[in-house]
Amino acid sequence: MNITVVGTGYVGLVTGACFSEMGHHVLCVDNDARKIEMLKRLEMPIYEDGLQEVVERNVEQGRLNFSTSIKEGTEYAEVIFIAVGTPPGYRGQANLSYVEQVGRTVAEHMTSYRLLVEKSTVPVNTGEQLKRTMTKYLREDVAFDVASNPEFLREGTALVDAFNPDRIVIGVESDRAAQLMEEIYKPIVEQSGCELLRMNIASAELTKHASNSFLAMKISYVNAVSRVCELAGADVKQVAHGMGLDSRIGKQFLHAGVGYGGSCFPKDVDAFVHLSDQIGYDFQLLKEVQRINQAQREHLMAKIQHELWVIQDKVVAILGLAFKPGTDDVREAPSLYFVPQLLEAKANLRLWDNVAAKKFDEIHPGLTYIEDPLECARGADLVLILTDWPEIKNLDLKALKEAMKAPVVIDGRNVFEPEKMEELGFTYYSVGRPAT
Ligand SMILES: NC(=O)c1ccc[n+]([C@@H]2O[C@H](COP(=O)([O-])OP(=O)(O)OC[C@H]3O[C@@H](n4cnc5c(N)ncnc54)[C@H](O)[C@@H]3O)[C@@H](O)[C@H]2O)c1
Repeated sequence: MNITVVGTGYVGLVTGACFSEMGHHVLCVDNDARKIEMLKRLEMPIYEDGLQEVVERNVEQGRLNFSTSIKEGTEYAEVIFIAVGTPPGYRGQANLSYVEQVGRTVAEHMTSYRLLVEKSTVPVNTGEQLKRTMTKYLREDVAFDVASNPEFLREGTALVDAFNPDRIVIGVESDRAAQLMEEIYKPIVEQSGCELLRMNIASAELTKHASNSFLAMKISYVNAVSRVCELAGADVKQVAHGMGLDSRIGKQFLHAGVGYGGSCFPKDVDAFVHLSDQIGYDFQLLKEVQRINQAQREHLMAKIQHELWVIQDKVVAILGLAFKPGTDDVREAPSLYFVPQLLEAKANLRLWDNVAAKKFDEIHPGLTYIEDPLECARGADLVLILTDWPEIKNLDLKALKEAMKAPVVIDGRNVFEPEKMEELGFTYYSVGRPAT
């Protein structure tokens, strides 16, 4: 099949690459001409493991192409996926201007039936709005459908997730739309054996917000437990392990730490709270999830303040800038909370994250980046760990202690064991475990 994907970011590019790998012909469209030029030169605008190879292979075999023109995308395929950003807007409400713009432009150029698929994460009832917009801007009297097909991939393992999803959710209102979606996903369903769930559009839209908010809730829950552990002298890692082995609870997303970040959880929880408010439900539970998440960062900042006493002129080495390992994405990353605070307190910052440094530098230009984590820690009064990259997990701790001016580690990801750190002579603060 021919497929157009509008938006070639973390989701759109992976989706387009995955569809082409499955044998479809895909045109990826983006209005960022710089991105499209890079992709045409087979340079990846984002870091995602394995993406380069899949893109290269499918471009070479003629199944994957790039364009800046939605008009071309509308002519190219019967099915058009919208994978543009839906960033936080006014008071946490999702900003749907990019989605609306794509819908409008597609409508203006349509001359025969098209299926417009929401791949972006959108609040429930966006499908209805999209239909109204399309109807308004159609130049010719042609039929169309809107569908919802939320994306559940995780940055860092996006390709594995795209080829082996836990489930595929499609929200449709006509058999024609359902058949097209089933045809597109047939190779993935056959290969992975996953279920393809058909539901109405509103339910599909809501499934995504409800899923992300649930995962954020799990993280905030274990973070709240971590605070009780600190007060009670318990170890949250052991508690979470004990909980997670219960199959009703599950091990994933039970890691206490500096709180969730990234381009999805903060904005999706915000949007879900806002949407619920708007339609008449005060989602207090999720408001508490947000409060706990913020408090977790402030709690860690208080530990830094307590340990350094005077932050001014202290050398602080920050290890990890991405919101999680395996990605260069720094959107809503905890690093974006700590760096400005420490700069304001006049700390002397040294930063390490070879994957995310470029994206971070676009937001905070002119800071000092060191390519080796151990070198980054040299002469530091304090090391702050914000991303559990393997390079950090595998640090030579003896060498780290020797490199630092004062052996103080504040670990926002619980990478090391307190007993070991104590044995080596570190002052070590982690989350929900006894300090040494
Ligand atoms: N990043 C994730 O892990 C993830 C996972 C699941 C769902 N989502 C959702 O998918 C959507 C996209 O997220 P992302 O992380 O890929 O965003 P992104 O910012 O990486 O990519 C969005 C792309 O859309 C392009 N774009 C914006 N307006 C456009 C227009 N009018 N025409 C053409 N291109 C346009 C931008 O230039 C950009 O390249 C969001 O709704 C997000 O919530 C993201």
